[in-house]
Amino acid sequence: MTDAELIRAAFAAQKFAYAPYSKFAVGAALLSKSGKVYTGCNIECATFSPTNCAERTALFKAISEGEKEFAAIAVVGGKKGAPDDGRITSPCGVCRQMLYEFGGNGLRVLMAKSETDYIEKTLGELLPLGFGPEKIM
Ligand code: THU
Repeated sequence: MTDAELIRAAFAAQKFAYAPYSKFAVGAALLSKSGKVYTGCNIECATFSPTNCAERTALFKAISEGEKEFAAIAVVGGKKGAPDDGRITSPCGVCRQMLYEFGGNGLRVLMAKSETDYIEKTLGELLPLGFGPEKIM
């Protein structure tokens, strides 16, 4: 699985975004260390707070199918109908924390505008001094 393929999977998932309120469609593709890809989109709610981000949709799908270790996640997002303003979508704080639970510092996070134009950071860079399971176990 190349980075471009993972980003392509995130774009495919973005098409399923249920975002009638924000109109901001997000797709994510999470690569497990076992080599499987789990995709997700954001899913909004009329009462707003139950909204689930694309990253957590992908993570919850993976965890619920027995995965525990992850190598990389690709994230793409944009406002429906808006011209490409050149911005990338980076995972929100809640998603960073949830990814940290399973990915630790080493997870590669690809924030993409296209299959070839993306910023790569580690989760440790996005969530310095993260608080994870090792702290309380
Ligand atoms: N959203 C995500 O799905 N992932 C992110 O990384 C940032 C935000 C969603 C939540 C909400 O449905 C919409 O984008 C606007 O915040």
